[in-house]
Amino acid sequence: MSFYTPETVLCNNEVFKVMLDQNQIQSRIAELGKELDRDFEDKKPIFIGILNGAFIFLADLMRHVSIPCEVDFYKLSSYGDEKVSSGQVKQRKDIDADITGRHIILVEDIVDTGLSINYILNIVKQKNPASVSIVSLLCKKDAIKYHVDVDYVGFDIPTKFVLGYGLDYAQEGKNLAQIYVLDENSNQKD
Ligand code: IMP
Repeated sequence: MSFYTPETVLCNNEVFKVMLDQNQIQSRIAELGKELDRDFEDKKPIFIGILNGAFIFLADLMRHVSIPCEVDFYKLSSYGDEKVSSGQVKQRKDIDADITGRHIILVEDIVDTGLSINYILNIVKQKNPASVSIVSLLCKKDAIKYHVDVDYVGFDIPTKFVLGYGLDYAQEGKNLAQIYVLDENSNQKD
């Protein structure tokens, strides 16, 4: 199978370079899968993917988990087409599953300010689950404004805009199989 893994990407007239390659991403996800297997054995957790960004991570993560589990989706939007958060979260789709008394694993692509995950956490907790855990592939820990404990972090990254592997810039770049960051040298103006 061949995935889309260019060395650099031009997106909205800005150049992005590889920050995390396919091997780094996949081997970290395999480790996270093992941790979840261990921590949720006999708990039949429900993974709740936060759309749109988390769809690729969730699909790969679930294939590294070998305990019985279920999946559902919550859809949010906060970024619009910009590189900084709009600061406003909108719910686009609620979950369908009855999560009362169930063990929930919220799956995020990236925690930036923490606004989105806090918003969902509050909604999910009101539905009386047995437990709620958070797994995020990426965490910009220096950008957190709304405190949240992320239980499983794939990679801590600097406060820089990234794209690829489900993350987009004005809707582009989700199909890249690696994570890219703005190449400040290539984008420097003379
Ligand atoms: P937060 O609410 O500020 O934590 O932002 C979380 C959401 O913003 C993520 O689920 C992403 O959809 C989006 N986001 C945050 N940082 C980035 C980035 O660097 N690239 C693309 N999307 C991002």
